[in-house]
Amino acid sequence: MTFKTDFKGRLDQYAGVVNEAMQQFLPKTDGLEHLVIEAMRYSIEAGGKRIRPVLVLEFCRVCGGDTEAALPFACAIEMVHTYSLIHDDLPCMDDDALRRGRPSCHVKFGEATALLAGDALLSLAFEAALCNNYRGRLRPGDVILAAHELAAASGAKGMVGGQQIDLEYEGKPVGLEVLEPMHRGKTGAMIRAAAKMGCIVAGAPQLLIDAGDAYAQKLGLAFQIRDDILDLTSTDEALGKPAGSDLVNHKSTYATLLGLEESGRMLGELTRQAEECLRPFGEEGHFLRELARYLAARAG
Ligand code: IPE
Ligand code: IPE
Ligand code: MG
Ligand code: MG
Ligand code: MG
Repeated sequence: MTFKTDFKGRLDQYAGVVNEAMQQFLPKTDGLEHLVIEAMRYSIEAGGKRIRPVLVLEFCRVCGGDTEAALPFACAIEMVHTYSLIHDDLPCMDDDALRRGRPSCHVKFGEATALLAGDALLSLAFEAALCNNYRGRLRPGDVILAAHELAAASGAKGMVGGQQIDLEYEGKPVGLEVLEPMHRGKTGAMIRAAAKMGCIVAGAPQLLIDAGDAYAQKLGLAFQIRDDILDLTSTDEALGKPAGSDLVNHKSTYATLLGLEESGRMLGELTRQAEECLRPFGEEGHFLRELARYLAARAG
């Protein structure tokens, strides 16, 4: 793959190749089970920023890996993420009717089908990651390690665990001792996995995997703080999801706990720290530095 050199160009390029690659993995809607597949396609094809796949591909690139062969992992993490959003919007969770600028999956297809579409996207993620389409271009041990990373990040000690904390503490006063593990789980784990998977499939040395992980830890927390701020300050149109949802659900967030000013300051500091972590990548880290700044300033 040859890469655009300007930031926005490369960002769009990555999103484009991932969208194309996901089409190869999504099943056809030609059987009696077509509804669940339509629901999976509906949520994937609604778009989204594709930040996690971008991290997989760019970390693979900066580590000198085969970015085309990393595509199944980029698709896989987006599938897990999309499943998490479908379930996050369900009435038993955040009960949000708008996602990625469209009616949420359960609004369009009903709760049962949305639940199944999420389940099937989680399975499809591992089918994609382990597809073996690039036999010989990745080391088998690295494929196993990257898939293990994704499995661990998605589960009870990762994204699912964070979601559990988020739900359990609705309406309760909490401090950073709860917010931190909540954010580390529900958002941080998948962002870290994306960076690490990119490094791992590139066969990178531990030093670079650790640097990618350190960057992603800072970025992940910053990303959720920005999401919390936008919930208070943005609009449904700009976000493509309901603004003010956290307030309605009595969620504790960085923005509500620390206030807009202090959480904005933290966001800036974490972004600066994330950029620092990229030092081992030298000049090649330029896109990832810009990505951290772009995400900190994003409007949606
Ligand atoms: C939304 O993630 C949920 C959070 C972890 C904050 P994104 O903001 O990446 O959502 P999409 O993929 O762009 O829709
Ligand atoms: C959800 O966090 C994170 C996951 C889906 C794992 P939020 O509930 O804040 O995400 P949004 O704001 O609905 O996108
Ligand atoms: Mg939620
Ligand atoms: Mg939500
Ligand atoms: Mg949110």
